[in-house]
Amino acid sequence: MYLKSLTIATIVFLLAACGSKMMLFSQADADRGAVKFPGLTVSSLNTGKLNYETHCQTCHGLISPKAKTEQAWRIMVPKMVTMANKKSPMMAIDSAKQASILQYVVTMSTAPAK
Ligand code: HEC
Repeated sequence: MYLKSLTIATIVFLLAACGSKMMLFSQADADRGAVKFPGLTVSSLNTGKLNYETHCQTCHGLISPKAKTEQAWRIMVPKMVTMANKKSPMMAIDSAKQASILQYVVTMSTAPAK
């Protein structure tokens, strides 16, 4: 019994620790993004950032979302996905991942300065 609650406490702690590290986006970010991407959530921004960091710095450094306009990102993301998938077909970016990357960079391209 004691051991079981200890295990649960550990899991809760680990989840909380992971969760706090993941909380990089505010609800305001999600609301701003949802204007362009209906249904966008903080969690989908986290997914997009993770996919961006996984797939988009193998040839060059990470480019800040703010470095480009929405228009530029809408051109660059598909172009880069094509290039990335040619280079690494084993970890190809599927359309869902591509969409999450676009949502993340476009939403954060207009993030207010903190
Ligand atoms: C296969 C290598 C490769 C991968 C993977 C890659 N890129 Fe690129 N990226 C390039 C090259 C080469 C350039 C410069 C030439 C060009 O613009 O086509 C570039 C340029 C860019 C630029 C323009 C930079 C500037 O200074 O104007 C952006 C934005 C960009 N990449 C975003 C991405 C994103 C987003 C991803 C992930 C989906 C990604 N890249 C993955 C090779 C890559």
